Amino acid sequence: MSDRLAEYEYFLHGGDYSPEQWKDSEITPEEDFYLQRLANCNTFTIGMFAWSDIEKEEGVFDFSLYDKVINMAYENGTRIILATPSGARPRWLAEKYPEVLRTRHDNVKEPFNTRHNHCFTSPVYREKVRIFNEKLAERYAGNPAVIAWHISNEYSFDCCCPLCIKAFREYLSKKFDNDIEKLNKEYCTSFWGHKYRSFEEIENPFNDSSIEGMLLDWRRFSSEQTVDFMNSEIRAIEKYGKDIPITTNMMPGYYHMDYTRFKNSVDMMSVDSYPQWNGPNHVDEAVNTAFWFSYFYNIKQKPFLLMESVPGAVSWRDVNKLKTNDTESLSAIQAIASGSDSVLYFQWRKSRGNYEKFHGAVVDHYGKEDTRIFRSVSNTGKLLEDIKEIKGATVKNGDIAILYDIESRWAFDESRGYSNKDKGYMKTCLDFYKYFWKNGIGTDVISKTDDFTKYKLVVLPMLYMTDESLSNKITDYVKNGGYVYANLVLGTVNENDLCYLGGIPAGELKNVFGIRNEEIDSLYDGDDYVTEYNGKNFSCSKYAEHLIPYEAKVLAEYTSEVFGKVPAVTVNEYGNGKAYYQAVYEESGLKESVLSSLIKELGIKPYIIFDAEKYKAVTACVRIKNKKEYMFVQNFGDIPAENVKVAGGWSDFFTGEKRYEISVNKNGYRILTRYVTDGE
Ligand code: GAL
Repeated sequence: MSDRLAEYEYFLHGGDYSPEQWKDSEITPEEDFYLQRLANCNTFTIGMFAWSDIEKEEGVFDFSLYDKVINMAYENGTRIILATPSGARPRWLAEKYPEVLRTRHDNVKEPFNTRHNHCFTSPVYREKVRIFNEKLAERYAGNPAVIAWHISNEYSFDCCCPLCIKAFREYLSKKFDNDIEKLNKEYCTSFWGHKYRSFEEIENPFNDSSIEGMLLDWRRFSSEQTVDFMNSEIRAIEKYGKDIPITTNMMPGYYHMDYTRFKNSVDMMSVDSYPQWNGPNHVDEAVNTAFWFSYFYNIKQKPFLLMESVPGAVSWRDVNKLKTNDTESLSAIQAIASGSDSVLYFQWRKSRGNYEKFHGAVVDHYGKEDTRIFRSVSNTGKLLEDIKEIKGATVKNGDIAILYDIESRWAFDESRGYSNKDKGYMKTCLDFYKYFWKNGIGTDVISKTDDFTKYKLVVLPMLYMTDESLSNKITDYVKNGGYVYANLVLGTVNENDLCYLGGIPAGELKNVFGIRNEEIDSLYDGDDYVTEYNGKNFSCSKYAEHLIPYEAKVLAEYTSEVFGKVPAVTVNEYGNGKAYYQAVYEESGLKESVLSSLIKELGIKPYIIFDAEKYKAVTACVRIKNKKEYMFVQNFGDIPAENVKVAGGWSDFFTGEKRYEISVNKNGYRILTRYVTDGE
């Protein structure tokens, strides 16, 4: 099967263009293609919100503007990412078929409003989208300018209409083998006398949010239902050929969707990324961004597309800070370094009215090329052309993986207990990631179905929910020589959020870690516990667990009024591997100290060696293609980084000069290259 995107030799550079917004104005597509060339852009993403323009009335289609734009792209030798329009339905559709609109968690039916307000189950909506998508594919699949299908826009949230609740009942009935007693048992419905007598009695789960296992299944169901809807969109598109790759844009950190379930439907992942650069949390934003890029990359283990980013500033934050020229290019490079094959923007031309009229764009209302942002985009385009040989390169796997498990996070967050205001799952993941990131150590963010055996160390942050297969996977991995580092609440509940009996972590994990976790204390502000590790004190401020060590060796201890002198960090040898457990959070310095000796023990080498205390935010990523490695060293810190040592065999990508040590400007980057056989 040919793949137009893979065959295209350039990184995609460009963005969301809405010609329909300019149809009745003096601004013509000719003008936009002219500016596109000047901006060193090669791609427009179109069609996402064009449904009501193309199908003004039911069954009456007018594709003339789109014919013009897509043909112009072809004539100009540029590319089109063509979106299906399901993200925003026309008014006639909502009025004629109200079932297409969503029902909220509180059972209120949404009126026709904004976008992303459609039921994923509605047969009418599916049918209307099918008709549109088939027309789109029939018309444009043969046009070589179309390089990717962009299915819908940021699939998100859920719907509680009767059609969805019926589908949910069917989902549960299938899951529990049509046996309501199984459901009652797994959801512990005797609690508060909530037993179901039949699946017909299942209603909107938000009517009774005390059944936590059901809420968890609702989240799974909503993700599945979204994927099912997306698959129906894709089937309509693929009726006219499969050589145009399929993607849909996803949101880093988006809570209500399990994106791992998108893996088999799309050909590549796409990411919309809007960090707040140049703000007070610049470094944390960089860490956060890198974390999510890695997560999306690893879902398919192949390059993704940065589908949206902003030139300048967004319009939806409390404070909308502009990016400086250097962060414009550094943020583009961060995406490329992390495995993106594109730098695409929302939006190409700043819309004239409404909600996003002040959202950053390549072309401002001013309309010409002589603006700071236009120049900056154009420079990025030039840079992407210069490094085009890197397109398609895979990202080198790190020695360390961090497991991000959305299902466990949902279950943990939804459960009453611990620190109810904020369980701290995400922050814990990011804290771990940050430590490795700011020491230039290759680290992958992975999902629970991914292969652990590629890694020397797998970090399991707050892995509250472990089913049998995950528990076996961890056990086998350690038995065969792997190292794991877990912190808090490990193996507390099963896949239905039922607490494990007989002590946690569940089952064999107790032997793997050599501990039993008896209690957890949630701490008030200022109510810190003090732990001691290697003669140094570290305080912890959020959670403290009471561990009973079986076989495990105690590495750190704390003295607490509640538990007495008990372990805070343990390590256990199990088979050929080791399992670390950290019973405290939020702490600063403790995990870093333990991990730094662990990294040495495992012989894990950072990509770069530098004074990480002084230069707080220098990091590196490596991509590989045709036996050549490309290392991107990035400095998100406040000062230029000097004396950054790189291991043997690297040369500067642009000059070809050998490099053993480099400096990296504030908000700057360097690209180095070597043949894989050259060095270590
Ligand atoms: C994205 C969305 C775009 C645009 C952008 C603004 O979430 O996909 O259509 O609204 O946000 O930042």
